[in-house]
Amino acid sequence: MNLTPRLLLQKIMVLPDAHHLEMIQPMAGALEFIFLAFLGIAIISTVLALAHQRSNPVLARRFALAISGKLGVWITFGLLPLLTLAILLGQLVYGSRFGILPAIVKLSPLAVFGLLALWKYRRCECRVAGTLGVLATLGFALPFVNLLEMLHWPERWPFLNPLLPNIYDVQGVVRALIFLAGAILATGGALLFRGFVWSESRMTADAPERNVIRIWALSLTVLGAVALPALVVWDSAILPVGAQSVPALVVSAPLLVTLWLSALLALAMLWNPNLCRAAIIAFLAFAGLAFETTRENLIQTTALADKLIALRMKADTQFSKLQMDQEVRYSSNTPFDPKAGEKIYAEKCSACHAFDRKVVGPAHKDVLPKYRGQSDKLQAFILAPQKVDPAFPAMPAQGLSRREARAVADYLLTRLETETKGGAQ
Ligand code: HEC
Repeated sequence: MNLTPRLLLQKIMVLPDAHHLEMIQPMAGALEFIFLAFLGIAIISTVLALAHQRSNPVLARRFALAISGKLGVWITFGLLPLLTLAILLGQLVYGSRFGILPAIVKLSPLAVFGLLALWKYRRCECRVAGTLGVLATLGFALPFVNLLEMLHWPERWPFLNPLLPNIYDVQGVVRALIFLAGAILATGGALLFRGFVWSESRMTADAPERNVIRIWALSLTVLGAVALPALVVWDSAILPVGAQSVPALVVSAPLLVTLWLSALLALAMLWNPNLCRAAIIAFLAFAGLAFETTRENLIQTTALADKLIALRMKADTQFSKLQMDQEVRYSSNTPFDPKAGEKIYAEKCSACHAFDRKVVGPAHKDVLPKYRGQSDKLQAFILAPQKVDPAFPAMPAQGLSRREARAVADYLLTRLETETKGGAQ
């Protein structure tokens, strides 16, 4: 058998169960935030670096260093979140006809190649690596955010080709614009943070590029923080009905407030060379982005709700089948404790039954003869009692496992034989 990446990923999939699906969504949301912010900063900062590389190499280097050149950083914030996201999103729609997983699998070589090229660019400053990296990551990012957008439209899945961005669709365009605005905002925040706050990378007070970076960082932040709220409002207005929900509207409030605040602060600081608030602005910018991902996540949850219920039901039946198979295997391999049946009978049955007199249920010596030699039938009754005699109320199921039911049934039938023999003598 040839193992395609798709098959391989499907093998890693865990059978979804109810709780696990509920956990996946917030996890996927958090990863989306990390991954998209990182990807956005990587793209925009490289574009800025490439644009300045000829005229001002020092400045270009500063732009590139909005993200550290350490390989570990690129793996932790780029490659690992991408892999995990692919698995989580695949799980989320596993079993539906929406081919999100194969689509991500087909797209991800572009992302892996692009991220590595962008990392390489920070090491060698070769323009080819930078340019190829930007093209590849953009080529990945636009269809990818479009895939995320399509998660809001489960009713359209059977008709969608997940790999073709729905470019004629306003929603798809807005989603791409939101990604770009977020990327610009995140780059502004990252430049502020890495250039003026983070002790390992911040510029000295007399660095020649300090002022230009300050203006770029603040302008990018203002631009992103003004564009993003506008796009979010637009996006909320054109959401499909099935994806609209109160919580998504509610998070829009802190989203707008944090972004406006960071825009106002950044604007104020453009005229003020003192950068004491750089950390606050960077923090607000990222908080705004995190609210935006939360909003997207809530929209997704609402849109996917009925799909998830269906998947959950399917998972439940599969799970109980597994459980049953396992029990059958278990009960056929393990020797019984000969006393087990008697113990279970005393614990679970004797409240309503006695062997030779009627209690709540009938005397067992009256009802058991019809099960002689048919332990299976008796076990089936014990596991799922049916209404038998109108003179009695119905017997509630006792929640025994197959193994326990078999032990009690064998115990009762053996006792029937010994007692009736004893009675006959
Ligand atoms: C809460 C009371 C209650 C408990 C506990 C209970 N039973 Fe019963 N059982 C009944 C009643 C009531 C009936 C009569 C049901 C009817 O005729 O529809 C009954 C009927 C039966 C019958 C006769 C079935 C038939 O085909 O006529 C068997 C066998 C039996 N119980 C076995 C058990 C065993 C084994 C346990 C313990 C695992 C158990 N019961 C626990 C109330 C109970």
